[in-house]
Amino acid sequence: MAVSQVRFLATNLFQSTRVWKIGGKGNNSMQDFNPATSFGPAVAARYDDNLRGDEQAAVAFLSELARGRRALEFASGTGRIALPLAATGLQVDGIELSPHMAERLRAKPGGDQITVTPGDMSSATTGQRYGLVYLVYNTIFNLLTADDQIRCFENAARHLTPDGFFVVETAMPQAWIAPSQADYVHAEEVGLQTVSLDVARYDPVTQLLEENHITLTPEGITLSPIVCRLISPGEMDLMARIAGLHLIDRFANWQRTTFDADSRAHVSVYGLNPTR
Ligand SMILES: C[S@@+](CC[C@H](N)C(=O)[O-])C[C@H]1O[C@@H](n2cnc3c(N)ncnc32)[C@H](O)[C@@H]1O
Repeated sequence: MAVSQVRFLATNLFQSTRVWKIGGKGNNSMQDFNPATSFGPAVAARYDDNLRGDEQAAVAFLSELARGRRALEFASGTGRIALPLAATGLQVDGIELSPHMAERLRAKPGGDQITVTPGDMSSATTGQRYGLVYLVYNTIFNLLTADDQIRCFENAARHLTPDGFFVVETAMPQAWIAPSQADYVHAEEVGLQTVSLDVARYDPVTQLLEENHITLTPEGITLSPIVCRLISPGEMDLMARIAGLHLIDRFANWQRTTFDADSRAHVSVYGLNPTR
């Protein structure tokens, strides 16, 4: 099969995506939030405007673990990591929920070399096994229940070769919201013509962070809502264990800095448990 094929059947994707009943406090919580809409056409169009700057380090880390074997990115987005990883000579596939993000990937140079399977990373399958499956940029938090997060670990396990690695890179929950804090407003940009605010509320019962990025300009107001379920490294390790995986290594970043109490993020490497 030609590797140039990008299998993105967007037609029914939005209809089949679940809508979440968010249990936030008060009457104005994000009822009926639909995760698929967080990465719609407008977000996809500007997603690559401000890269994180860790792409080179991430690719070096991931390509070393892949050791020439094929790799699968859960939530491959616009190819921020998948494309430079593929440029090192690896075959990289993706699974992605948003057709708009996948379309951006496909339109980039080399995008036709990446096969993207449309769907939810907690259930979609490519039908292949990989030496490396990875899920970066806090995206494990985009699954909004513990069950779906566990299913994501199980889906990673299903896609791994026996000696393969599942790499998850995400923030520490307390780096986003202090334990004693229920909400915040953060001024992201304060300009003459543009003010951008990050407005968020956290519910420690559901572990859901309901967040809206609000941009105010003379032309009007733009809302970009997103909901994340924050989980600690310890919870992730338990989810991994349920999925038949175990923690091999944990670092504070892609440069392999030691993970400690001050770390604001972590890169965790899991492997399949040996079969008994
Ligand atoms: C922060 S972006 C990260 C994209 C890419 N991995 C990167 O590092 O730039 C999050 C991506 O996850 C996708 N996504 C969110 N929930 C998903 C799910 N359940 N299954 C597959 N993709 C999902 C979004 O559509 C979006 O492309």
